[in-house]
Amino acid sequence: MTLIEQARAVRENAHAPYSKFKVGAAVQAASGAVYVGCNVENVAYPEGTCAEAGAIAAMVAAGETQIASVAVIADSPTPVTPCGGCRQKIAEFAGGDVVVTLATTDGTVLDTSVSALLPGSFDADYMSRV
Ligand code: THU
Repeated sequence: MTLIEQARAVRENAHAPYSKFKVGAAVQAASGAVYVGCNVENVAYPEGTCAEAGAIAAMVAAGETQIASVAVIADSPTPVTPCGGCRQKIAEFAGGDVVVTLATTDGTVLDTSVSALLPGSFDADYMSRV
């Protein structure tokens, strides 16, 4: 299965009773292993988590910290794009050149990169005087 196919499959498990907007994400780590996540909403709305956050948490829990590629999919008119917080979460574990594939469930796919999604990102270099 491609990364997008794995994201499409896990999207089916999304818990999105409030927004009704199901999202699936898959990250391939440096080892080649793939970690998947879906959005998990909560009746206390701010406690909900994004699909990308779930996939990244699974990767880190498995002992990996390097993202090689990312895929995200939703039933959206144009390829779904990660929220600001998830862009920062991806950037924590991915170089700027890492490919992020964004897709709609009906087959439109857009390849972009971490640096294109989050230009001028805050990183540890800014804390070098601490
Ligand atoms: N959502 C994601 O999981 N990932 C994205 O890239 C965009 C938004 C979720 C959060 C919330 O559960 C629902 O989609 C509507 O915002």
